[in-house]
Amino acid sequence: MHKPAAKSIICYNLVMKNRHETKTAIGMMSGTSVDGIDACFVRICGDFSFEILKTHSIGYPAEISEKILAAANNKADTELICKLNFVLGRLFGRCANELIAKTGQKPDFIASHGQTVFHAPKTAEISGINANSTLQIGDISVIAQETGVTTVGNFRARDIAAGGQGAPLVPFADEMIFKKEIPRAIQNIGGISNVTVLSPNCETFAFDIGPGNMLIDYFVKKFFNKPFDKDGEIALSGKIDENWLNELLKEPYYAEFPPKTTGRELFNDEYAQKILKFAPENKNDVIATITALTAKTIAEAYKKFVFPKTEIKEIVLGGGGVYNKAVIAGLKRYLPGIEIKKHADFGINDKYKEALAFAMLGYCTLERIENNLPACTGAKMPVVMGEIAYSG
Ligand SMILES: Nc1ncnc2c1ncn2[C@@H]1O[C@H](COP(=O)(O)OP(=O)(O)O)[C@@H](O)[C@H]1O
Ligand SMILES: [Mg+2]
Repeated sequence: MHKPAAKSIICYNLVMKNRHETKTAIGMMSGTSVDGIDACFVRICGDFSFEILKTHSIGYPAEISEKILAAANNKADTELICKLNFVLGRLFGRCANELIAKTGQKPDFIASHGQTVFHAPKTAEISGINANSTLQIGDISVIAQETGVTTVGNFRARDIAAGGQGAPLVPFADEMIFKKEIPRAIQNIGGISNVTVLSPNCETFAFDIGPGNMLIDYFVKKFFNKPFDKDGEIALSGKIDENWLNELLKEPYYAEFPPKTTGRELFNDEYAQKILKFAPENKNDVIATITALTAKTIAEAYKKFVFPKTEIKEIVLGGGGVYNKAVIAGLKRYLPGIEIKKHADFGINDKYKEALAFAMLGYCTLERIENNLPACTGAKMPVVMGEIAYSG
């Protein structure tokens, strides 16, 4: 069982209040890679120690991921978005039911992130009214109905309503899980790469760095007709084109100061087509270079935004990108001397960490514990994020 973060102020308060009960939960996550749903069945105690009992994933059928990507690329009509909201609710419900069958028990609650189809945390007003917004679909009423379990979701909305960017939300759980005893970078490599900096030397902060697997997946699909570069084999067989890499690094987002978040609104198909104009001819070299971009943008972001605030003793990698050996090789090359670990080294399956994080956030919703970190999201105040669809 993972022990609570005794030095974290939030945890400390929780321990002192000592009024929160142990609950079982299913956390569910589907990220910007649009590869499918990851779910974990976990027991969470009032002091935020936890135990993962079982995990489960289902991949999106090709038709569904294509339609989600259409929506994320602003190429879906409202009819399709309306239907997808319920289709995904039923699919999330199915995923939870399969995990319930595997575990042999129903959880006290389900916490579902949903599937982001649009994220506009900083946008122009409409008719003089603030239009900052985000949309995660996979309706929680449908999940509650399909499973008979109280379901929490729509986490990001409240943080945006409180003036934040609605992201990143996982740092809250990172603090609980990893504590702040030594300076660590908790580095997720999903569709987008994002980091949480946990250090005794500074307040916890986090931001989206840039494309994680998103552009790699796009080009591997385009040139090799595969969903992703398994273990980074294609990248490892190619040569990095330093000229193209330097061009790619000129993207202004990388130079912006945190807090900042990004997604398919920037690094989408159009973006990929645009950058391809200057790409090398050899397709393996394209994959090698775009994979190096993932590693290099991480290293550059640490140098610009992290090291001025704190040294980093170790990096803890998570997300599907941990399986890409070319990404890891790149990180070792660009950040020599920093130990690189994985969530698995801490007993947490790399693929399910974000699902675990949303289970923790959902626990807070039900217990009315503030669960955003304003220093990470830019919100004006701490708020209790999450909405509830009761089982009955
Ligand atoms: N064996 C593997 N080798 C290389 N990359 C992998 C492997 N398994 C998964 N991935 C990458 O991880 C991605 C999914 O990561 P995930 O953490 O689920 O991201 P997201 O949260 O954006 O959905 C896949 O799209 C793929 O690019
Ligand atoms: Mg995923």
